[in-house]
Amino acid sequence: MARRRIIAGNWKMNKTPSEAVELCKTLKDLVKNDAVDVVYCVPAIDIVPVAETIKGTNVELGAENFYIEDKGAFTGEISAPMLKDAGVKYIIIGHSERRDIFGENDILINAKVKKAFEAGLSPILCCGESLALRKAGTFKEWIKRQITWDLDGVTADQVKKLVIAYEPIWAIGTGETATADQAEEVCKLIRDLIAEMYDSATAEEVRIQYGGSMNAGNAAELLSKPNIDGGLIGGASLKEDFGKIVNA
Ligand code: PGA
Repeated sequence: MARRRIIAGNWKMNKTPSEAVELCKTLKDLVKNDAVDVVYCVPAIDIVPVAETIKGTNVELGAENFYIEDKGAFTGEISAPMLKDAGVKYIIIGHSERRDIFGENDILINAKVKKAFEAGLSPILCCGESLALRKAGTFKEWIKRQITWDLDGVTADQVKKLVIAYEPIWAIGTGETATADQAEEVCKLIRDLIAEMYDSATAEEVRIQYGGSMNAGNAAELLSKPNIDGGLIGGASLKEDFGKIVNA
């Protein structure tokens, strides 16, 4: 079964609501491609205006964060049902910036994956190793451990709808991309792990992205690899270049 490519922008903490609307308008014609899922994962405050602006286009809406309870006394948080109601389809979970800066651990990330599915959102589950682990040669064990913990109790049917983003931390925002072979090696390892944890049909369906300084120049080579089904793009998703990645 051919997996459908998914190119997602991770805007991070960039773009005010009015800037977000402008960016959507700038990218509108550049990201047209019916053969690819195109997603903008935007800051919470941009969700409503972006939802309005992308209506009738091929772009789908994603969010960058939520909390695991449905509602209540959790000052400053937003819930998965709130995102769903606002038109969000995809949700980034386990990004290295949430893990490292905001102290999110695999127990919380696992709870978020399950809550996202319960609310009808599709998680984009991120994993990836630090430069120290890459140099120490233990990064494969690290990735396997992250995925095993983060998917504890998640069913095969859910994993078939999951997107996993392999994002080596040393390549995020640094301009240093993993080579296409390095990226393919880990994406294949993740798919093999899913086959072990579930079965080969599930492994064939789960979509695996590469993320980390993907840009208009390197996207085509990365995306040509058999186990790389798309990209999670930070810096380059805020520019016209994003259209070139969608159409790479
Ligand atoms: P980058 O970010 O493309 O700016 O490296 C990717 C990410 O953090 O998702």
